[in-house]
Formats: sequence, C-alpha cells, structure tokens
Amino acid sequence: MTLRAHREEDLDRIVEQCQDELAQRYVPLPSPYSLAMAQDFLNGYVRGGWDTRARTDFAVADDNDRYLGSVGLHSHNDDRYEVGFVFHPDARGRGLATIATHRLLEWAFDDLGAQVVLWRANASNEASTRIATKLGFELSTPLVGWFYRHGVYDDEAMGTLRRQRFVDNRDATKPSR
Ligand SMILES: CC(C)(COP(=O)(O)OP(=O)(O)OC[C@H]1O[C@@H](n2cnc3c(N)ncnc32)[C@H](O)[C@@H]1OP(=O)(O)O)[C@@H](O)C(=O)NCCC(=O)NCCS
Repeated sequence: MTLRAHREEDLDRIVEQCQDELAQRYVPLPSPYSLAMAQDFLNGYVRGGWDTRARTDFAVADDNDRYLGSVGLHSHNDDRYEVGFVFHPDARGRGLATIATHRLLEWAFDDLGAQVVLWRANASNEASTRIATKLGFELSTPLVGWFYRHGVYDDEAMGTLRRQRFVDNRDATKPSR
C-alpha cells in the first residue's frame, strides 16, 4: 500500500466511493455525486489544500497503483490537525483504512510536528469509531445532535490523540501488516 498524490486516473473510483451509501451517510458529500464533483474535489479541495497546506490529503493505492481510498489532515493553523478517511467499498473490511490512517498519523507527529490530532464521526459510525479506538484516540462524550446530514441531527463522537500518547503506544497501535 502507498500513500501518494491523487491523480486523474483515480476519479472514476472516487465517484463510486462517494456515491456509496455509507460514504453518503457519514461524510459531507454532495448527493448525487458526479464526475464533475470528483474533478472539483481533485483540483480545488485536494490540490488547493496542498497549495495552502490548509488540508493535506493522500490517495491510498494498492501495489498496482489502484485507488483504494483517501486519508487526510485538516490543519487548524497551528500544531493541531483533524484526521479524515474514506475508502472505496471494495477496499473495506481488510484493515487497510487502519493501516493507512496509522501511516498518516506517523507523518503528522513525526514530520508535521503535530501536538494533537482530532477525530470526529457520526456516533453510529462503528467502523470509524473502531479505527479511532485502535489507533489510541481518547474518546470524549458524544455531542448530542451535532452531526448534521440530509436534515437529520445525529450525535457526534469525537476524540483526540496527543503526541506523547501516540509515541508511547506507537508499537502497540501499529497495525500488524
Ligand atoms: C470508515 C471506513 C474507512 C472503514 O473502512 P474499513 O475497511 O472497514 O476499515 P478497517 O478494516 O481498517 O477497520 C475497521 C474496523 O471496524 C470494524 N467494523 C467495521 N464495521 C463495523 C460495524 N458495523 N460494527 C462494529 N465494528 C465494525 C472492523 O471489524 C474493523 O475492526 P477490527 O480490525 O478490530 O476487526 C469505511 O467504512 C468507509 O469508507 N466508510 C464511509 C466513510 C466514513 O465513514 N468515513 C469516516 C468518517 S469519520
């Protein structure tokens, strides 16, 4: 698995990923999601984010360079960052999101100098919550009614991972493959 820059060749799979029901439920995406939206995501959100360093998003690709998903950090303009991840439906259920997010966290703490990373999700998002827990995030009480999508106000789970905790637990939380 590689974390690399997004490419035009990824767009069709990004559209499939963003049309997927789970992604639509848990990520603030336009609906329906079109190829033009994926192109805007690539040119504006991803490349624009790297230009300003406001957001640093990576494509996750397999050994054949096939797009598997995206992981990224949103800068809070200091040494705090927020993590996000979404995977193509056919790349889920194999631990790959956990591995990719762990690599992203290593980059955040080792190279960016992050002091703390925030994770947020719909409180019903069990896969995301499991990943955050496995990677050592300390979860706080969910914010009641704060996760808004499609006219519904769900509870929002959140947690943080501080640098020292990540360093102390680096080996224990490192995915085995
Ligand atoms: C979140 C997402 C990236 C996880 O992908 P994934 O391939 O399932 O992730 P992983 O395989 O690395 O790990 C998922 C973990 O959650 C567990 N899990 C998955 N679905 C679960 C469920 N419904 N209930 C309980 N646990 C669940 C898995 O068993 C695994 O834990 P384990 O390794 O201890 O067995 C993927 O579901 C996705 O893209 N969802 C839509 C977008 C999204 O929700 N993004 C996060 C927004 S905060």
